[in-house]
Amino acid sequence: MIEPPGNRAKEIIHRDCRIISTCITRPYPLVLERARGATVTDVDGKTYIDFGAGTAVMNVGHSNPEVSAAVTAQLAKMTHADFSTFFADPPVRLAEKLQQMSGYDRVFFSNSGTESVEAAIKLAIWKSRRQSLVGFYGAFHGRTLGTLSLTCSKIKQKEHFPALTVVHAPYAYCYRCPLHLEYPDCGIACAHEIESVIFKRELSPKDTAAIVVEPIQGEGGYIVPPPEFHQELRRICDDYDVFLVADELQSGCYRTGRFMAMEHFGVRADIVCMAKALGGGLPLGATVSSRSIMDWPPGTHSNTFGGNLLAAAASLAALNYMEKEDLGTRAQDLGAHMMMRLRELQSRFPAVIGDVRGLGLMIGVEIVKPDGSEDPKTRDLIVVDGFKKALCCYPAATRSFGSAHRWSSRRRKWIRVWIDRFETAVKKAVSCVLRRFAR
Ligand SMILES: Cc1ncc(COP(=O)(O)O)c(C=O)c1O
Repeated sequence: MIEPPGNRAKEIIHRDCRIISTCITRPYPLVLERARGATVTDVDGKTYIDFGAGTAVMNVGHSNPEVSAAVTAQLAKMTHADFSTFFADPPVRLAEKLQQMSGYDRVFFSNSGTESVEAAIKLAIWKSRRQSLVGFYGAFHGRTLGTLSLTCSKIKQKEHFPALTVVHAPYAYCYRCPLHLEYPDCGIACAHEIESVIFKRELSPKDTAAIVVEPIQGEGGYIVPPPEFHQELRRICDDYDVFLVADELQSGCYRTGRFMAMEHFGVRADIVCMAKALGGGLPLGATVSSRSIMDWPPGTHSNTFGGNLLAAAASLAALNYMEKEDLGTRAQDLGAHMMMRLRELQSRFPAVIGDVRGLGLMIGVEIVKPDGSEDPKTRDLIVVDGFKKALCCYPAATRSFGSAHRWSSRRRKWIRVWIDRFETAVKKAVSCVLRRFAR
């Protein structure tokens, strides 16, 4: 464990370790107390820039005043309307807003990302009367047993747990093509594997309820596939009468510049899962689809807290804020600037930064060894060094950064500060690598 930066942090971590379930992973000892905009402050008063945006949750910024006001107003009226038993206005208004922004006209509310994917899986299975799914290597869709069956990221997450029938296909990770081909000459062979290998040898399309895909893989390493990948998945789903489910948990809510990342690829999924930034910081999941698909009868699926009034009020305020402040354009502008600066760094440190990729502010940097292979050790060194320098970012299969939060006139300054910190961290990593090789 890295030394906590202050005494209060030390004391809380000590108590945490004695009582909180041991299954949670924390990359560094950050104990948070307050947050505002793009910054978070720890219990010892040190402020960090939050480039992980609370794991892709705080697109409208921490403690967004409009979200706080909406939650406070709702709090004074009522918190829990038992929406799965009775009716209430805030969740209906939120569903109408989601319909206007996404174009999907049926909504099911839950409390988390994994639940929103779980609902999509159940809906696809119920509607098709088929029980199997196709997922992708590197995917992360959650950790409840249904979604865990689709998740294919780290073996630790899956070992010893039972699973639904899911066959995994290669994702279009062009930087390290799993089929050792090169785009565009590959002809999107990874997507064709579903039709030419999986559907022929392993899983009949007649037993396949859905292909479930992240438009951009998050935990897998912020991997942006070429548009033809998703277009090909759409074609396969149409040809074999299989549902296409898009998990937009990380990529949704304007993080990539569009409300849903699938819009970049000109593809419309049959069922879309949303959560994270959708709740403006409160726990909320939504599964959206069309009336003709989401027509399951009462009792087929439900929950206690879906449509919670505080979460609905927060989400409605967050969505209004995203529209009003045009966070999509902002994410595209800031993302373009960030990518440019990161690519400058890459050209200076090609032995460490193998790839810079992303859409909007959903940006990842792949840290590599001088021979181009993956280098999680150096990545962790950079992440921990960033933490020591008050920069909060997260390791994934590769690293990922970004928030569509409004940085106003100071935004470039933040980026500059971050780049400086990142540069220092990269320099330190480079010198460590050089020392390692000199030995
Ligand atoms: C793409 C994706 N799907 C699903 C999940 C699971 O969401 P939750 O942790 O809210 O259950 C995550 C979480 O990081 C995710 O990134």
